[in-house]
Amino acid sequence: MSFPLTRPRRNRLSNPLRRMVAETDLTVDRLIYPLFVTDGQNVKDPIKSMPGCFRFSVDTLIEEAKEVYSLGIPGVIIFGVTDIKDEYGSEAYNGEGIVAKAIRALKKEVPELLVWADVCMCEYTSHGHCGILHDGYVDNDETIISIAKSALVYARAGADMVAPSDMMDGRVKVIREALDNNGFKNTGIVSYSAKYASAFYGPFRDAAGSSPQSGDRKSYQMNPANSNEALLEVLEDIEEGADIVMVKPALSYLDIIAKVKQRSLVPVAAYNVSGEYSMVKAAAQNGWIDEQKVIYEMLLSIRRAGADIILTYFAKDAAIILKKRNF
Ligand code: PBG
Repeated sequence: MSFPLTRPRRNRLSNPLRRMVAETDLTVDRLIYPLFVTDGQNVKDPIKSMPGCFRFSVDTLIEEAKEVYSLGIPGVIIFGVTDIKDEYGSEAYNGEGIVAKAIRALKKEVPELLVWADVCMCEYTSHGHCGILHDGYVDNDETIISIAKSALVYARAGADMVAPSDMMDGRVKVIREALDNNGFKNTGIVSYSAKYASAFYGPFRDAAGSSPQSGDRKSYQMNPANSNEALLEVLEDIEEGADIVMVKPALSYLDIIAKVKQRSLVPVAAYNVSGEYSMVKAAAQNGWIDEQKVIYEMLLSIRRAGADIILTYFAKDAAIILKKRNF
């Protein structure tokens, strides 16, 4: 059966019909908003390379989190930004450090907002690498001990889920063991399973002061040329106890999201990263694109590829767009 009997355009005739036959939907329930927390008080420091994003002190962070919650966004992921750095990144697992403090305050003041804690060393190491350096090489097995210590500190502070983004091998297993052995059986693990060595992280590193001082992250983050390796990482993380697996970045990796979704029985998250955000903001500021439509189309495409959850700096924009969507 083909033309003139089949006319796919019939199902596109009107807005209600198009809505009804849509294969993918996008709701605010799927979104996680990343937030940067820093030292001090009454700080709301604009991040130049990420228009609309700020570094917050704990007090202003709470105000922001209340707004996020009131928009219906289910959760946030917290990143620490601090000048307290050393060779080992020990500030990452300071129970009185900025992230632990922020988590405690969030769970007290906005208890129904899910709090995920990013777990990595790069914001806390003087050299900016995601782990402990020996002769220029990030030591895997030593690093995962620090990663597990940090995860436990964030769990103690009340994080609902911890999200290791360091890309060391075996870290999900040691985190799970550390949590279970200390009474945190119900703290979840969102693993940045397939995290690529990507130039799209540029604005984030600017925001978090976490660029490597020498070299790059290619000996731990994945090669953008690889796809099967993403499945290897994902399947291993699930076996080690990951509750949610993640692909990062999102837009240049929609094929990876689709492939992972086919093989994963746990929910799949995708991280719509800083560079993907800033490119849209810059083009919109120049009047070159319709910002709202582009945001909607991008997030929808990440969902269509197979992501159940999207971490995105557009979460607040999207919540507003979705409420009044008239296109
Ligand atoms: C920390 C981390 C990074 C991002 C999330 N966690 C940066 C990196 O790996 O260099 C990137 C987030 C973004 O670009 O939005 N390891």
